[in-house]
Amino acid sequence: MTIFHYYNGMSSNGSLKKVFVETYGCQMNLADSEVVKSIMNDAGYSPTDRQNEADVIFVNTCAIRENAEARVYGRLGDFKHLKKGNPGVVVGVLGCMAERLRKDLMETESYVDLVVGPDEYRKLPALVQEAEEGHKGIAVKLSRVENYDDIVPLRTEGIAAWVSIMRGCDKFCTFCVVPFTRGRERSRTVEGVVNEVRELLSKGFKEVSLLGQNVNSYRDGESDFADLLAAVAELDPTLRVRFTTSHPQDMSDKLIETIAAHENICNYIHLPVQSGSDRILELMNRTYTADHYLRLVDKIRKTIPGLSLTTDIISGFPTETEEEHRMTLDLLRSVEYEGAFTFKYSPRENTKAWDMGDSVPEDVKLRRLNEIIELQRAVSYRKNQVEVGRVLPVLVEGESRKSVLDHRGRTDTNKMVVFRRNGEVLGDYLDIRIEKANAATLFGTPVPKN
Ligand code: SAH
Ligand code: SF4
Ligand code: F3S
Repeated sequence: MTIFHYYNGMSSNGSLKKVFVETYGCQMNLADSEVVKSIMNDAGYSPTDRQNEADVIFVNTCAIRENAEARVYGRLGDFKHLKKGNPGVVVGVLGCMAERLRKDLMETESYVDLVVGPDEYRKLPALVQEAEEGHKGIAVKLSRVENYDDIVPLRTEGIAAWVSIMRGCDKFCTFCVVPFTRGRERSRTVEGVVNEVRELLSKGFKEVSLLGQNVNSYRDGESDFADLLAAVAELDPTLRVRFTTSHPQDMSDKLIETIAAHENICNYIHLPVQSGSDRILELMNRTYTADHYLRLVDKIRKTIPGLSLTTDIISGFPTETEEEHRMTLDLLRSVEYEGAFTFKYSPRENTKAWDMGDSVPEDVKLRRLNEIIELQRAVSYRKNQVEVGRVLPVLVEGESRKSVLDHRGRTDTNKMVVFRRNGEVLGDYLDIRIEKANAATLFGTPVPKN
């Protein structure tokens, strides 16, 4: 790694400069922040966790729903304040909000020095240098080729790593900003991904999550996502391999069989359905019907025994009727997901759905959302009770969030397990006998190895 490769990487007293990066949004953004830190580190800015000692502050933002943007605006207020006390600090807005709002963001938030979209991160060191000389900068071009294939993300120590394998999205679901904020779909090379994972293995990582808005539409020449997944899984049988997100349209038989054939590819698929109504699915441009989706789930469950499945649901899409909402509840009842991420529809400017009007009143959206959450909580609870009494292999990932006396880890099926710590270290595999469960977490005791 070349440090000091940009001469601006030192502060006037000769010490190394520091960059603070705060991340919102999806795992893709988390992975991008590691790319940003790597680029900045090579330019002489070492990452810091303390905003007060930073020379540069980046906020990597999300634009998926209005409330995601509201959170970022709230936080930007803090940085505005910080900059008043320390005018030399450079504040940059990165990511999907930067891409969506572009120069408007610069105009409404006058203390912001830089606005940089997801495909322009290589320019950050040069833009920061200009900002330090008093010139604001904006770089929001989307690229058809940029995939940062050659940049080694700067990860913090850990046992699980995100590896982004593709960028952008071509699906154009009518509610979604991602195709506008992230641009066209493009994949990294199999070689680039495999080399990165090999490197992670040599550093002691135990789990990788392959990331993309549609991982299963990955393509590199003749190789598809199933080929990539197999190549990664076959590097080491003790490496856990996860992936997200899969689109139902691209869930090929070959992919399902590849997951089933590899012990270390986790038996877990996040397969967003969004709605149980065919009319709404069509308005959303999701390209499948509820019946297609149910048959797909059937096929996956038959091929991959013990599969765990989660989904995303939107409540109150424009014109959604009470009956259509009940179809979503029915679908949740018949699939019996392990879990669901549920969202109130949020209109996004320039999307097709924006023109359909936001016709479902707020209170109705909220009531429907709550019905979905309630139903799913009951299903998740019931499915977790089935695990009680079983012994499950768990990868130890860290301290429990509630007690320093406990460790937490996940099962192959992505269920969180909490247990009393007893000398094990992060990255160990333990067999845990599950003793109780709620809708979100399993609790148990390690079974001594003999
Ligand atoms: N690429 C993934 C998910 C991307 S965004 C996929 O296709 O499944 C994550 C989730 O946010 C989506 O699945 C959807 O449920 C939700 N979402 C996206 N846009 C939204 C909007 N405008 N309002 C409410 N929820 C939205
Ligand atoms: Fe958005 Fe649809 Fe693409 Fe997912 S598949 S990122 S929901 S447009
Ligand atoms: Fe948000 Fe952009 Fe991810 S809009 S969900 S950060 S791709």
